[in-house]
Amino acid sequence: MWSLQSAASLTEAPGIVIRRATPRDAEAIARVRIDAWRTTYRGLIPAVYLDGMQVDASTALWDKILTAGPSPASVFVATHADEVVGFAAGSMLAEPKFGLNAELTAVYLRREFQRVGLGRRLIAAVIDAQRAHGATGMIVWTIAGNKPARAFYEALGAELLVEQTFQWDGMDLLEAGYGWRDLDALAAACRAGQVLPETESTREDRRAG
Ligand SMILES: CC(C)(COP(=O)(O)OP(=O)(O)OC[C@H]1O[C@@H](n2cnc3c(N)ncnc32)[C@H](O)[C@@H]1OP(=O)(O)O)[C@@H](O)C(=O)NCCC(=O)NCCS
Repeated sequence: MWSLQSAASLTEAPGIVIRRATPRDAEAIARVRIDAWRTTYRGLIPAVYLDGMQVDASTALWDKILTAGPSPASVFVATHADEVVGFAAGSMLAEPKFGLNAELTAVYLRREFQRVGLGRRLIAAVIDAQRAHGATGMIVWTIAGNKPARAFYEALGAELLVEQTFQWDGMDLLEAGYGWRDLDALAAACRAGQVLPETESTREDRRAG
């Protein structure tokens, strides 16, 4: 029987779909994000902050993003048996940073769906969508102590741009900025070793021209 643990790649996984998020996904996205923050950032961000994260407040934020109408941003979800198990988001930057004009603003998966290739597939979808908005390069920020995420971005060929302190909700944290200057190479790295089923997103983007 198929199991996430035994799957060599998600090409084997039944029922996994990558699609554009809709306003109906706002709460599921909020829950995935909060769960991932609590499991990933425990020990890196004060527990009082993590434990105080509110699904309602986060849902309202995502609802606003997803109902905003046409915008140069994109949000994709990964679903398993119709349940959202991960998501990724991208946007264009008002001012390029380090010569990069787009940002990967989020990529989060439920723990049991990590490390089976879904992160790569979600980023591939975001790249396609942001390129349609004129993206030529992409930046991503991570908490500097998030070693697995750093390994993930490095495995996808990201260049370390900077490490710096920043303020988040009154907390002083250290962040690392990574960048991709060649989105063809990033797309190829995302698809490396996998014969990917076409996502709904790429079909829609192509229709939209
Ligand atoms: C980070 C995250 C998005 C990566 O997505 P993923 O689906 O787990 O990663 P993938 O399976 O696509 O991995 C692609 C490659 O990245 C590297 N990689 C991924 N996770 C890694 C880890 N924990 N340690 C070392 N390398 C890792 C590997 O080279 C991997 O290829 P391989 O499995 O063939 O060796 C996901 O694990 C996650 O949601 N983590 C918790 C939340 C988080 O930290 N989000 C990022 C916030 S900045």
